[in-house]
Amino acid sequence: MFSEEVLELEPRLIEWRRAMHQRPELSFEESWTTEFLTEELGRIPGLTLQRPTKTGVVAVLRGARPGRTIALRADIDALPIQEETDLPYASRVPGVMHACGHDGHAAMQLAAVRILAGQREQLCGEVRFLFQHAEELPPGGAAELLEAGVMEGVSEVYGMHLSSNFPTGTFGVRSGALTSATDRFDIRVIGKGGHSAFPETCVDPIVTAAQIITGLQTVVARRIRAVEPAVVSVCMVQGGQAYNIIPGEVTITGSTRTFDKETRRTLPGVLERIVSGICRTAGADYDFRFSHGYASVVNDAALTQAGRQVIQSAFGEAAVLEIDPLMPGEDFSALQEHCPGFFVELGARNEETGCTVPHHNSRYRMDEAALKYGVEYLCRLVRSRLAGA
Ligand code: NI
Repeated sequence: MFSEEVLELEPRLIEWRRAMHQRPELSFEESWTTEFLTEELGRIPGLTLQRPTKTGVVAVLRGARPGRTIALRADIDALPIQEETDLPYASRVPGVMHACGHDGHAAMQLAAVRILAGQREQLCGEVRFLFQHAEELPPGGAAELLEAGVMEGVSEVYGMHLSSNFPTGTFGVRSGALTSATDRFDIRVIGKGGHSAFPETCVDPIVTAAQIITGLQTVVARRIRAVEPAVVSVCMVQGGQAYNIIPGEVTITGSTRTFDKETRRTLPGVLERIVSGICRTAGADYDFRFSHGYASVVNDAALTQAGRQVIQSAFGEAAVLEIDPLMPGEDFSALQEHCPGFFVELGARNEETGCTVPHHNSRYRMDEAALKYGVEYLCRLVRSRLAGA
């Protein structure tokens, strides 16, 4: 199950994780974390370190013989949340917390680098370990790394996320679309304001906005194939200032979540047609903006199978959970624009120790016992992908 190296390194792994947990940093501001990781990586012989972006660090490990080049990615940023746990190693930074478990991701990958660096004689090819900044804040750190060229020559990429949805000792696996593409729309309905007693002299943007909001509800129900999961949510409506004045403008803001590329591509046009049709009927004007967030993480079938086999051979068949798509976004998708990838959910839920709170919550607690599973998986994965012919 666990190799000796992993069990031996476990105390250090937890120390690394707690050190980072105490010093969380927001997206694009991970200077201390980057220094910490660079220093620890610097102690490992045989690595080449790169700093292609302002924060974040890449460690390159070349095997003894030639072979394929793969990339592993761990994100390192924290969230603007005030920690509300009573843990001795709780965040010491007011208003910032590792509430998504990225401290664990970075620590696991650091441990994997250390173990694999000692096994380079057995490796054919190259591993790039990406300690990636800014996963939590679009446009995201992954796109910056891609832009900086760190994926040149890489033929497969792997990522992992701790999850309090699944019990420790299990892995959530899914071939195909795993996370949703998360996009935003902003609609400005421009009417003509005036006295509430004389609506016939106005173009009422409130009534028009109400029709648009109702119209948008038909998109998922009537315009998208029933087998295709999608969400269109209006989350902000703003307009009006007095009880007896028809305002000049109303703004409507919301988000869409899709899995299918084609659905994501056509959705803005579908939304805008509804807006434009209703506005034309009302005699109102409009402004429509659609901004892309992260694309969907889509797991490659062959790499998913390879990852599944690694998990099964290490921890048995029961350790693999076939999971449904996940609604939260994930910027790992940017790296998959370059090459196929596999992203796995690492179970870290433990009822006995009370580690059940969801991520992005001020009381989030990770089951640290899950970390060694992640390290064992990463080491076995790299050894199997760089095993040579
Ligand atoms: Ni996260």
